[in-house]
Amino acid sequence: MKKLLDLISEEMQQAFEAAGYDKELGKVSLSNRPDLCEYQCNGAMAGAKKYKKAPIMIANEVAEKLADSKVFSDVSAVAPGFLNLKVKEAFVTDYLRNMRADKKFGLEEAKEPKKIVIDYGGPNVAKPLHVGHLRSAIIGESIKRINRFAGHEVIGDIHLGDWGLQMGLIITELQKRQPDLIYFDENFEGDYPKEPPFTISELEEIYPTASKKSKEDENYKAEAMEATFKLQSGVRGYRALWNHILAVSVADLKRNYENLNVDFDLWKGESSVHDLIPDMVAYMKDGGYARISEGALVVDVKEETDTKEIPPCMILKSDGASLYNTTDLATIMERMKEINPDEIIYVVDKRQELYFEQVFRCARKTKLVKPETELKFLGFGTMNGKDGKPFKTREGGVMRLENLIKEINEEMYKKITENRTVEEEEARKTAQVVALSAVKYGDLSNQASKDYIFDIDRFISFEGDTGPYILYTIVRIKSILNKYKEQGGSIEGVELQDAVSESEKALMLEITKFNSMMEAAVEEIAPHKICAYIYDLANAFNRFYHETKILAEEDKEKQKGWVALLILTRDILETCIDLLGFSAPERM
Ligand code: ARG
Repeated sequence: MKKLLDLISEEMQQAFEAAGYDKELGKVSLSNRPDLCEYQCNGAMAGAKKYKKAPIMIANEVAEKLADSKVFSDVSAVAPGFLNLKVKEAFVTDYLRNMRADKKFGLEEAKEPKKIVIDYGGPNVAKPLHVGHLRSAIIGESIKRINRFAGHEVIGDIHLGDWGLQMGLIITELQKRQPDLIYFDENFEGDYPKEPPFTISELEEIYPTASKKSKEDENYKAEAMEATFKLQSGVRGYRALWNHILAVSVADLKRNYENLNVDFDLWKGESSVHDLIPDMVAYMKDGGYARISEGALVVDVKEETDTKEIPPCMILKSDGASLYNTTDLATIMERMKEINPDEIIYVVDKRQELYFEQVFRCARKTKLVKPETELKFLGFGTMNGKDGKPFKTREGGVMRLENLIKEINEEMYKKITENRTVEEEEARKTAQVVALSAVKYGDLSNQASKDYIFDIDRFISFEGDTGPYILYTIVRIKSILNKYKEQGGSIEGVELQDAVSESEKALMLEITKFNSMMEAAVEEIAPHKICAYIYDLANAFNRFYHETKILAEEDKEKQKGWVALLILTRDILETCIDLLGFSAPERM
């Protein structure tokens, strides 16, 4: 469907042409004086020079041509030559009817659908999830949904950190604690036990302990590196232990992500591409892309136009061990081979920007990707506490994601049960749904690349630019619709009607912005545009609601029109929050 502004502009362009002027002058934009008009056109000002005419004269001539317009109810030429515009109610109603009939509310699906891989989440196996992982999960999930909605084929890959030193650390610590475990017996040739020799809570305690020890003790660290190397080179017992670590950890991760309403199509990780590394290395050497530098294998990626130093991309360390780079490049190779995407988007902390610059350049230079394959880095900022420093627990430690979510759920529960009696189970469920909206909206309403302050009190508020406010608005609409049905009204076949009040028209005009907003959100990979839109939409709805006695209306036809408007508003709001990755309860 055409965007409303384009339709309006077309009408204006015809008028410019009919008055003998260049039609390009007829571009219409949203009014920046909403107190005076809904839209405006500054074309007469722009044309004054070319036509050596006072802009007000041009504006007057154009306005005359629009006297019988089906689009405009009011076209005023005002000094020095602006065209202030209002659109006809029927024109808006018509537009909304078409939106309602379209399953994407007027957003045109991509004409050439792309295949897009989104690399997000990126948790590290056996390390507890912390708030840093929260952003990647929230933003990545939303971007996945937005692109799917726009008609692209999207594959979300969690890209587990499951192959690095943390695995060696855990194995080392396990060996210290349980040296007799069969996994450490080099002569053992039988089948290893099916049951893991630890639980998730043990695992979560083992890693921090090991990590701390390795920082204090050189020898311990050396042992962990040795264990990592043995694991990577395929020592049976180590691989078997690693499989246990992975299984236990992934089960826990799945539960955590499920609570966040985040899900991945692929649960691959750094380890998935381990076997591809030798071939990739050979390819880079044979192609003459890589060179040896101080024993390590590197690919130069600096370019003449660089204004800052871009170090070479290291493929193998001097001891032959692979690095973060190596698995990322091999993953690109694998994705190209198995998925052949048009685009890969990485949703990672923006502090990794330089790293990804190196990886992308290396992938291009070594032709791991096609020239037209797009590699995009979507770096997000830090989530800070109220003190403006990276978010911590009250004691100053790293906040575990699970505890953070628990805390917010609890706060929300208190809020919901504050002044009323709600059944415990329902209240808990509702609290969880609303709390998730608070966290996700609090994050997504900021431009991803910016740091933001995680302010629980503000985020859980039912007023202001928050997730709970949006949900509250949706629930309000649902409740009106339910009452309408209880009064015997039917929502079947209700039709939108022309606005009869200013607030109703304002709501309708707000709704019309959906497709242009979505286009921008897709194009700029910007979920915050959806947040801004639904906040405006919710405000417009609430103003209309406060000024309109919907349920008490005697004129049943008029009431039906409002019911249709409510349904459309609700459907769009719910579609939008789904794109952001949360949902609304029935009551709250
Ligand atoms: N596991 C990494 C971390 O915690 C993030 C992974 C990002 N994705 C990637 N392909 N490197 O920092």
